[in-house]
Amino acid sequence: MNVFVLTGAGISAESGLGTFRDPGGLWHRFDPMRLATPEAFADEPEEVHAFYNLRRQGVRETVPNAAHAALARLEAGLQARGGRLFLCTQNVDDLHERAGSRAVTHMHGELLRARCTACGESRPWADDLSVDTACPACGRRGGMRPDVVWFGEVPLHLDAIARALDAADLFVAIGTSGAVFPAAGFVARARGAGIPTHEVNLAPSDTAGLFEAATYGPATRAVPGFVDDLLTTFSGS
Ligand code: APR
Repeated sequence: MNVFVLTGAGISAESGLGTFRDPGGLWHRFDPMRLATPEAFADEPEEVHAFYNLRRQGVRETVPNAAHAALARLEAGLQARGGRLFLCTQNVDDLHERAGSRAVTHMHGELLRARCTACGESRPWADDLSVDTACPACGRRGGMRPDVVWFGEVPLHLDAIARALDAADLFVAIGTSGAVFPAAGFVARARGAGIPTHEVNLAPSDTAGLFEAATYGPATRAVPGFVDDLLTTFSGS
């Protein structure tokens, strides 16, 4: 059985990382157009660096929760049964990896990586960035940026994501509002291909009406139970 799981900020909420559109969320407190676009980085690089340095520190100070751990268990459990999990996350934190997930597709990039706009080199990066940061590959200063996808930029790995989605036997969305495309369009693509769909979320998302099944509640409670049920019903094929 091939399962495609899409995660959003809601799966990391109980680890203490804020979401974007819930009350008090990041985009209620900061203007994404001034902090999460290539134009913002060109105009006010230090302001953008300060915003992402704060978020990077936040990720370093949090730990994965039971929902992340359950997806790591699902990956191993499906593999043991001859199946496969394709875990696609919109999140830029590394909590899935720290929970033990071995294959994670970050379609919006990774906060704990930095990329040089001069030579394109991308490296793991846990420290602060500033306009004085020199690229470890080409030495240029002023060009290092968080290796995340900003508004107006093209999400990553879209071909691999489309292939995995079309080959899935089940599509599950966890902790995402369904507000941002192309991720918000995955459920419609799955429905169009006759693939069963399931939403696991705190509350119905913007795309809730497209899901055939749903489980609502905090991810740390809803996801482990959902994974247990899935692994119980799927004995292997
Ligand atoms: N458990 C489960 N779901 C939760 C929890 C929780 N504890 N807390 C919040 N949620 C749900 C909310 O109900 C909401 O549907 O998580 C979702 C968070 O939605 P958003 O804040 O919009 O985050 P996300 O869907 O990941 O945003 C998508 O938008 O700004 C871009 O790049 C950013 O990747 C992000 C994308």
